[in-house]
Amino acid sequence: MKQKILITGASGLLGLNICNRLKLNSNFELFGICRTEINFDCEDVNWVYLDLTDFEVLQEFFKKNFFDIIIHCAAYVNVDSCELNKEYVTKLHVDVINTFQIYSPDSKIIYISSDSVFDGINGNYSEQSIRNPLNFYSYSKYQGENLLFNSKMNFLILRLNIYGFHRPVSNSLVEWAIKELKEAHSINGFSNVYFNPLYVGQVSRLIEKAIENKIEGVYHVGSTESISKYNFLKKVAKVFCLDDKLIHETQYQSFDNKPLRPLNTTLNIDQMKSKLNIEFNLDDGISEMFDDYHFYTI
Ligand SMILES: NC(=O)c1ccc[n+]([C@@H]2O[C@H](COP(=O)([O-])OP(=O)(O)OC[C@H]3O[C@@H](n4cnc5c(N)ncnc54)[C@H](OP(=O)(O)O)[C@@H]3O)[C@@H](O)[C@H]2O)c1
Repeated sequence: MKQKILITGASGLLGLNICNRLKLNSNFELFGICRTEINFDCEDVNWVYLDLTDFEVLQEFFKKNFFDIIIHCAAYVNVDSCELNKEYVTKLHVDVINTFQIYSPDSKIIYISSDSVFDGINGNYSEQSIRNPLNFYSYSKYQGENLLFNSKMNFLILRLNIYGFHRPVSNSLVEWAIKELKEAHSINGFSNVYFNPLYVGQVSRLIEKAIENKIEGVYHVGSTESISKYNFLKKVAKVFCLDDKLIHETQYQSFDNKPLRPLNTTLNIDQMKSKLNIEFNLDDGISEMFDDYHFYTI
């Protein structure tokens, strides 16, 4: 029998890529939740339009449907706006998980967390490192993790950072940089902010493997190479044949009226390598993004 998989945030940067990967696997039947109706073809996914923070609607939905696995990608990722919408953000990042727990306790949940649950002081964080979120977005992701730690559900928490394209193209870091560079505008890249992000295509393959191998617990997933955001943007520019001299090296500084952001959120990926037997190269990820580019821009 096919495994029924529900993907929340299925139209988003990561969620859509997961849909496009898992729909090729004949062992899975996919259901995707978002609020805004998609305006492109994505067959083989059963689209469900609902607001996850409307708990009555969500409860009714779970009364009628059971899923073997829920991949919870839906999120409010604008760090600045999260500070102004704490109640809503808590509902989406934390309370929704409680609803899964109450109304779908036998589902396995794959919770997409963030490298920003760490304070970024030391970097190379392992799964056992002490979490210390600096802003409300990160705090809410940390609370979502805590809820799972205290629940009886089977769970897999993936801490990560990602890059790629939305459909239609939006304004994540690489989308913004490519748009500006194409228009020959100068941009700034932070040379004191470090991460080891994955291309969303790499994350989708990892999730498929984690499902097949019934992996549980907390996993840090990232590329083998850690890099500053400045050097990352330079690499992206080169692969996309854009003028990397338009990228200016600058230092991130915190401002009184802005939420704090961690400086070095690099993740130690030893557990991913040993238990999942998988590794992802940063340059390969950027090349894969380039190869996929036409798909997102047509
Ligand atoms: N982007 C990053 O750099 C980054 C870094 C680290 C971790 N993450 C984590 O990775 C995951 C995926 O992020 P992403 O960048 O793919 O997000 P995204 O592109 O902003 O997509 C968010 C998705 O959630 C849906 N959504 C938002 N609010 C909803 C609601 N109330 N009810 C139903 N659906 C809702 C959106 O669709 P509608 O708007 O149509 O509802 C969209 O499909 C998140 O858990 C995020 O915390 C992201």
